[in-house]
Amino acid sequence: MTSSAPGKAILLGEHAVVYGRPAIAVPVHALQASATLKPADRGEPGQLWIEAPDIGLSSQVELHSPAAATPQSQAENLAPAGSSPVSRAAGREQIDRAPESQAAGLATAVRLGLEHFGGTPAGALRLEVHSDLPVAAGMGSSAAVTVAVLRAVAEHLGQQLAPEAASRLAYEVERHYHGQPSGIDNTVVALGAPIYYVRERPPSTIAVGAPFTLVLADSGRPASTRELVAGVRQRWEADPASYERLFDEIGAAVEAGRTAIEGGRLAELGQLMTHNQLLLEQIGVSTPLLETLITAGLESGAWGAKLSGAGGGGLVLAVADAGLIGAVRTALLEAGAVRAFVTEVGS
Ligand code: PMV
Repeated sequence: MTSSAPGKAILLGEHAVVYGRPAIAVPVHALQASATLKPADRGEPGQLWIEAPDIGLSSQVELHSPAAATPQSQAENLAPAGSSPVSRAAGREQIDRAPESQAAGLATAVRLGLEHFGGTPAGALRLEVHSDLPVAAGMGSSAAVTVAVLRAVAEHLGQQLAPEAASRLAYEVERHYHGQPSGIDNTVVALGAPIYYVRERPPSTIAVGAPFTLVLADSGRPASTRELVAGVRQRWEADPASYERLFDEIGAAVEAGRTAIEGGRLAELGQLMTHNQLLLEQIGVSTPLLETLITAGLESGAWGAKLSGAGGGGLVLAVADAGLIGAVRTALLEAGAVRAFVTEVGS
C-alpha cells in the first residue's frame, strides 16, 4: 500500500517564526508526496534501493552507514540531477542538494522510522517515492516526502505512526536538508491541518470559521531557503532593533490572522496577508517579480496576496472569494507565474 503526505503553504509569519514569533501554515492536500517500502528482490539486510523517478534518483545506499546521515554521502548509480523536470518539483530546497544528499535524506527517514518502531528488516528494502509537488518553491516538499516515507515504514511494519511522532522524526530529516529550520514544515505536513506554530512549542490546530480558497502561483524562480534565512540573519545582526520591530509586527499580523480565520473574516485575513507582504519586503526577501504577481492578484480582486515561504522567488499566495478565484488565477498566470494551483482550506 502507498503512504502519502500533503504539501504546505505558509499563510502568515515566515522568517519571523525563526525568531520565536508565531506563524500560520496550511496543508495543501491537492498536491501530495507518496512512498512505498517493500522487501527488495536482491541485496543484503541493511541495504536500501531507492527509486524516486520524479527527482531523477535511482540509488542503492547502506541504511546504517553514517554516510546515510550526512549530506556528503556518496550514493551509487545516481541519475544526473536537474535533468528531469520534476527534479525541481520536489522544492526549491533541493537546489541546495546533490542527488547523493537526497538519497541520504531518504535513507535517514527510513532508518529513523525503523529505529522508532524497533524494526529490523530481514532483508534488503526497496523504497519508491513519487511527488506531484510542483516546481514551485516553498511548498514543503522535503517534509512531505519525508513524512510519506515515515508512513511507508510504519505501513511496512504493520504499525501506526502518530502525527506528533511523524513530525518529530521528520524534523530530524529536515535538519539534514536545511540546517536549523523552524520546524513549521514538518509540523503542518504531519498534522495535515491548519496550524498556529511557535518554534519549540507544541503546535495548535486552527478551527477554520469559514472554509476559504487559496491560489498558489509559482514564480518559476527557485531560490535557496538556507541562503535567504542566512541573509535575514546578517541584516538582523547589523540592525537588531529594526528587525525585532518588524518581526513583532509580523507576529501581530499572525495573531490577528488567527482570529480572522477562526471568525471566518476572510477579507480581513487577506488584508493581513498583504500587510505581511509589505513587512517581508522591508526585511528584504521579496523580489520585483513576486511584487508584480501580487499586484496582479490584488487588481483582479483578491482580498490579499503575499509571497509564501522563504521568498527570493518561489511561491505567491492569494486569498479570494470563491467566485473570483478563476480570475485571480488567470491574472497571476498572465503576470508571469509559470503555473498556479487552487486549494481549499478548512473544507
Ligand atoms: O520556503 P520554505 O518552505 O522552505 O519556508 C521557509 C520558511 C522560513 O520561515 C523562511 C524558514 C523556516 O525554517 O521557518
